[in-house]
Amino acid sequence: MGKLTGKVAVVTGASKGIGAAIAKELGAQGASVVVHYASSKEGADRVVAAIVEGGGTAVAIGGSVAKSAEINTLFAEVKKTYGKLDILVNNAGVYPFTPIDQVTEEVIQQVFSINVTGLLLAIKASLPLFPSTGGSIINIGSIASVLASPSMSVYNGTKGAVDSITRTLAKELGSRDIRVNSINPGPIVTEGSASLVEGDFAKALIAQTPLARIGKPEDVAPIVTMLASDDAQWITGDLIQVSGGLR
Ligand SMILES: NC(=O)c1ccc[n+]([C@@H]2O[C@H](COP(=O)([O-])OP(=O)(O)OC[C@H]3O[C@@H](n4cnc5c(N)ncnc54)[C@H](OP(=O)(O)O)[C@@H]3O)[C@@H](O)[C@H]2O)c1
Repeated sequence: MGKLTGKVAVVTGASKGIGAAIAKELGAQGASVVVHYASSKEGADRVVAAIVEGGGTAVAIGGSVAKSAEINTLFAEVKKTYGKLDILVNNAGVYPFTPIDQVTEEVIQQVFSINVTGLLLAIKASLPLFPSTGGSIINIGSIASVLASPSMSVYNGTKGAVDSITRTLAKELGSRDIRVNSINPGPIVTEGSASLVEGDFAKALIAQTPLARIGKPEDVAPIVTMLASDDAQWITGDLIQVSGGLR
């Protein structure tokens, strides 16, 4: 029996990268998993197949977190399929390279609408599905919020917002026994980050990392299980850095 047997989990942006690893880990721990995706149905179907092959339960549901109607449809589907929700992992995110002289209103709106507005609206839409015994919301932030690397002001700003939202909603939802925490990874090799975490940039990051490597999605996923499980029943409003010690 896994640590999450009987629980229902939604992982946004789980067709690839960190979200896919989290979905597989939660499935292996016994949760019924909703593998959410925006455009990569094939990727999401592969994640569902991997969970089912391992003896777990999962479904893929599409939609953009940048569109409130599609968020509402996602949680209506979750209600219809599983009747409740115990774990929400807000992982969907984008991280374009944006030196300030290339920043446009459109870029700001696009990145904030996915990384911040989508996260807030997903939490709002999920709340009626949590049982009276509560549950766990896990936001995937980033050490970008404190590392403040240049040419990433828009992205770094979104992850600073995620830190603040996590601390605020932990206080707001504590009375409902809904815990809200963030995992803030350092650089992780994924489909989306491959070009950012190679070459001289990667060498400089590794040189500053006590554990001296770039991270893998599988470094992040077990920490989600910990925060989702009763092992973390007394933890809320925390930001856990998963970065090999990079600060
Ligand atoms: N990789 C890193 O170094 C790193 C470090 C710290 C934090 N993070 C954070 O970790 C999260 C995942 O990063 P990753 O590197 O795994 O990214 P990735 O490989 O680019 O995957 C991104 C995922 O988000 C989904 N997504 C994108 N736009 C979406 C939208 N509008 N609505 C719903 N889903 C959407 C994608 O879905 P489709 O493929 O279906 O379009 C995909 O499943 C992000 O929040 C990121 O900021 C990453």
